[in-house]
Amino acid sequence: MESFREGSAALIQGASRGIGLGLCDKLLASARFSRVYATGRHAERSEGLADLRSRFGDALVPLDMDIAREPAIQAAAQRIGEAESRLDLIINVSGVLHDSSRGMRPEKRLEDIEVENLEHSFRVNAFGPILMAKHFHRLLNHGDKAVFASLSARVGSIEDNGLGGWYAYRAAKAAQNQFSLTAAIELSRRARHTIVLSLHPGTTDTGLSEPFQGRVPDGKLFSVDFVTDQLLAIIDNVGPEDSGCFYAWDGQPIPW
Ligand SMILES: NC(=O)c1ccc[n+]([C@@H]2O[C@H](COP(=O)([O-])OP(=O)(O)OC[C@H]3O[C@@H](n4cnc5c(N)ncnc54)[C@H](OP(=O)(O)O)[C@@H]3O)[C@@H](O)[C@H]2O)c1
Repeated sequence: MESFREGSAALIQGASRGIGLGLCDKLLASARFSRVYATGRHAERSEGLADLRSRFGDALVPLDMDIAREPAIQAAAQRIGEAESRLDLIINVSGVLHDSSRGMRPEKRLEDIEVENLEHSFRVNAFGPILMAKHFHRLLNHGDKAVFASLSARVGSIEDNGLGGWYAYRAAKAAQNQFSLTAAIELSRRARHTIVLSLHPGTTDTGLSEPFQGRVPDGKLFSVDFVTDQLLAIIDNVGPEDSGCFYAWDGQPIPW
């Protein structure tokens, strides 16, 4: 186990609600980072982040950033880079499975596939995290332990796909995993202290899983509180040899 340097800065991308908001709360309460940047499409208007601001003050910096727009990612990287000489932790949390405002639902059959929904799913779930790596990796390369983690999903595992369905989400998460592994290989040569991870949180009680919770077996729907503790414990314990790995909430590897 290699620990983070005390007092540096972290970034939670996709922090306005759900697991991302919970991760911000845990990081701020632990006071391990002097500053936590929290981004989302409407981070500056998020009630959850406003509540954290009232509890933790300037240690939290909410920042609007739409992960589906590269110029927004580039602008955020520039702004954070002007304020911080380094980041030690970035967690990409944003993800989309359904969105009623765009008529987007997980597909049950081939006839449900809509190219606009495929594109949106890939933009948020797959392109977003790798564009974050493109624009932020330099801030992580400082010679101490740095983690670039992206929340993925077990349904993105090709080997584990026994049920079918959910075309856009499954395929976009598989692409996200491939992007993460490829970046891990490159950064093992260019920035060997940067650890790139794909993490599956398990089925968690948030808006994303809400329409499907009726099917979850007893004891398998986790709270945000439980999942954030699990994910942060994994992040604390990883070293360079873990870079490129895909781990579940319990630390077990998931096949690609
Ligand atoms: N919950 C589960 O059961 C479960 C299971 C497996 C994997 N996961 C993965 O875990 C991650 C977190 O999921 P969650 O359950 O916390 O979901 P959630 O409650 O629906 O939150 C999704 C987050 O993504 C952000 N987001 C969506 N589109 C965005 C965009 N274009 N730009 C910036 N941010 C955007 C949302 O912020 P705004 O909409 O406010 O911008 C929100 O903060 C996702 O990657 C998901 O695929 C979740």
